[in-house]
Amino acid sequence: MDLAIEVSGLRKTYDKTHALRGVDLSVRTGSVLGVLGPNGAGKTTAVRVMATLLEPDGGTAKVAGFDVVKQPREVRRRIGLAGQNAAVDELLTGRENLVLLGKLLHLGRDGARGRAKELLERFDLVAAGDRPVGTYSGGMRRRLDLASCLVGHPQVLFLDEPTTGLDPASRQALWNTVRGLVDDGVTVLLTTQYLEEADYLADQIVVIAAGRVIADGTPDELKRKVGQEWLEVAVALPDRTPDALSVLGPLAVDTPTVDAEKGLVKLQLRDGMDGIAAAAVALRDAGVDVADFSLRRPTLDDVFFNLVGHPTDQ
Ligand SMILES: Nc1ncnc2c1ncn2[C@@H]1O[C@H](COP(=O)(O)OP(=O)(O)OP(=O)(O)O)[C@@H](O)[C@H]1O
Ligand SMILES: [Mg+2]
Repeated sequence: MDLAIEVSGLRKTYDKTHALRGVDLSVRTGSVLGVLGPNGAGKTTAVRVMATLLEPDGGTAKVAGFDVVKQPREVRRRIGLAGQNAAVDELLTGRENLVLLGKLLHLGRDGARGRAKELLERFDLVAAGDRPVGTYSGGMRRRLDLASCLVGHPQVLFLDEPTTGLDPASRQALWNTVRGLVDDGVTVLLTTQYLEEADYLADQIVVIAAGRVIADGTPDELKRKVGQEWLEVAVALPDRTPDALSVLGPLAVDTPTVDAEKGLVKLQLRDGMDGIAAAAVALRDAGVDVADFSLRRPTLDDVFFNLVGHPTDQ
């Protein structure tokens, strides 16, 4: 298997804080790994080690085939990093920022200008390209930040919470950009607190909490760990909930859960598709009108809640 990132037993302690307590992870070339975890889990610390900005206390990390401690320059030449805080100069224009980076990366004057033009177009920043970055909106800054880490054509891209603070349209646009990069063969490791983001972008997910990997797998594997799908019935008139319960109860694996106030009944069905049909018929025969009748699968939010014990937005 061709691995773009290989991390084993990574440890890092700041003063007394054990930020990483033996983290293992690997990312196949050309795939996306989502690193999910609550505040303080160690995500940024892990990214900083992999991007050669921080030396680990123990363990090893190889990126694009090179050791981050022994061969940091080789690693740096092949990676891009969009950090939690944008690293662009506010006083320069977007274009000037990109040209400057291109020159630092030895693209030459014309090469740097050409690359800047290309990236401004790709990130929909042509109109704003000649304004100082200080006048950009949050979404525009994020796009410029991402553009700036692509100047040197990295093979491996680290994105630390790339869409925090973006509105849904900008988030979607950035997701599309990341997918485009992956289609071009770039390997991406992104950290996020948005389960939806990991679900949408990641081929594999690791969940970290308190410096340890507490779960990993594909989004579907993680969802499956939480359990089966269930039927959710919203009764149109909540005072008919007991009637719904009495006809649905016999079709369920366990006792259904009920929210009498909202008229909600949730149950795991015994017989798959036949169970769904039987439930619909039973409700109709009992004369119970339903406002909503749907089959639900666990979401990554449920997975996270199960693993970490609290939702991410706490
Ligand atoms: N420079 C530092 N000095 C001391 N402690 C630090 C330092 N940087 C991080 N820490 C601590 O290490 C732990 C992990 O921090 P880290 O920034 O890696 O978490 P994170 O998962 O990125 O969190 P967030 O979601 O808030 O960005 C936290 O307890 C944090 O307080
Ligand atoms: Mg962080």
